[in-house]
Amino acid sequence: MTDNELIAHAADVRRHAYAPYSGFAVGAALLGRSGEVYAGVNVENASYPVGICAERAAVAAAVAAGERTFEALAVVADSPDVCPPCGMCRQMLMEFPITRIILANTAGKQRVLTPADLLPLAFGAAALPLKETSE
Ligand code: THU
Repeated sequence: MTDNELIAHAADVRRHAYAPYSGFAVGAALLGRSGEVYAGVNVENASYPVGICAERAAVAAAVAAGERTFEALAVVADSPDVCPPCGMCRQMLMEFPITRIILANTAGKQRVLTPADLLPLAFGAAALPLKETSE
């Protein structure tokens, strides 16, 4: 799947974003190693902090489907420049292997980054004094 195809997926699912409070709809499309695409949108809540971003929604959908290794994530919003993922989403994205992160806006701007570009010196499981990780 090309980057433009994945962006088109994210732009399409963005129509389902639930963003009545901010009015800022975001769509995400996460391409698994299997070739499957998992969609996410932001889902806001009257209790504002309860809302979830499109990126984390896409990761949750993928993990629920049994996929944990990813080729790419495309994120699309109607922002003046590409929409940078928030800090919480950056941390979430560091949890699973992903090759590239494609940021785009509805006007056609695009930027391709790695997870390390987005979150250098990320906190991860290696920092935890655990003997084993539970899967
Ligand atoms: N939002 C996302 O879904 N992804 C981002 O990368 C940035 C922000 C959402 C959260 C909230 O629903 C709205 O955009 C405004 O912050």
